[in-house]
Amino acid sequence: MFSNLKEQPADKILQLMKMYRDDPRPEKIDLGVGVYKNAEGKTPIMRAIKAAEKRLWEEEETKSYVGLIGDPAYRDALAGLILGDAVASENIAGAATPGGTGAVRQCFEMARMANPDLRVFVSNPTWPNHLSILKFMGLPTIEYRYFDNETRAVDFDGMMEDLKDAKPGDLVLLHGCCHNPTGANLNLSQWQAVVDLLLKTGATPMIDIAYQGFGDGLEEDAAGTRLVAKSVPELLIAASCSKNFGIYRERAGLAMAITQDAAQTGLNQDTLAYLNRQNYSFPPDHGTRLVTMILNDAELKADWMAELEDVRLGMLKLREQMASELQKASGSDRFGFIAQHRGMFSRLGAAPELVQKLREEHAIYMIGDSRMNIAGLNETTVPILAKAIVDAGI
Ligand code: LMR
Repeated sequence: MFSNLKEQPADKILQLMKMYRDDPRPEKIDLGVGVYKNAEGKTPIMRAIKAAEKRLWEEEETKSYVGLIGDPAYRDALAGLILGDAVASENIAGAATPGGTGAVRQCFEMARMANPDLRVFVSNPTWPNHLSILKFMGLPTIEYRYFDNETRAVDFDGMMEDLKDAKPGDLVLLHGCCHNPTGANLNLSQWQAVVDLLLKTGATPMIDIAYQGFGDGLEEDAAGTRLVAKSVPELLIAASCSKNFGIYRERAGLAMAITQDAAQTGLNQDTLAYLNRQNYSFPPDHGTRLVTMILNDAELKADWMAELEDVRLGMLKLREQMASELQKASGSDRFGFIAQHRGMFSRLGAAPELVQKLREEHAIYMIGDSRMNIAGLNETTVPILAKAIVDAGI
């Protein structure tokens, strides 16, 4: 039976991670996978996480099962962080999932249960694993224009034009903030226009929010999601705590289904619980519990927010340094977009051969589509990268 198996396409991000690990050159620079690194190249455990873990170790008395959706307190706390008071709690169904990817998968599953003929509109480009999961599930995808490769900003007219084709029963996948892989984001009036279009077409939005707090701030990064949540009749949200709580390996995500009809919430909640049961039964607890403890404790929360803000400002500073070094090295303003982009990533807009050249000649690793992880840089490596980019003729 196993001999019938076929090779599966390699995941570009994970493949690059391995190539980087195997590269013996000491000067190598990793701008690949979306993991935060500080100036020393470490991915630290956040202070509030350490403190909550210590407390949990002292207080936790059992490792017995919690529930199919995880602890409802986690759903409530994370829904509060993302949605503020945009939606009443009786309109929110949610289930803990193994990471943001688990949430993405469960949202797609739920949408397909609701509509077996589901079509999913995805931004061009989007996180490669969105496409991989959709393909694996056999769900038809329709790309909408998103990134203008010339200006390296959002091609908003193209996006609106393409989203006009969405119909009731279609899902429109949006990135809540810090668009992955481009770093180019919608402003609030563009979000409003997207909302108006969704209402006109009757399509259902799904928001993937995995980098809240990495862009313009915790509140600012949730503003688009909140606007959608209070305006449309139905919304799916896939959220991740991997990045903003730095708990990548703990796999803490949340799938949410929001409707304006509170009578529907019970069924949505049961559906998410059912889907968890079918796919992995009980979701992981550890990471979600730490998040809940932090969000429900004023002191821990304040410390977490302060550390997250330092992380955000650090990345912003690197962006500014990068834009200015590139300006110096190239004698032009054509890289100004790096300071305009937000979040962990920027898409440089370089051809794959040039990305390869950077890797082979300078040991600089970025994803083949020229996505670079800003957090993989530090003050010393920024000028090295800037020079390599200009030398490569990008
Ligand atoms: C990324 O885009 O690099 C991250 O979301 C990590 C991943 O799983 O791909």
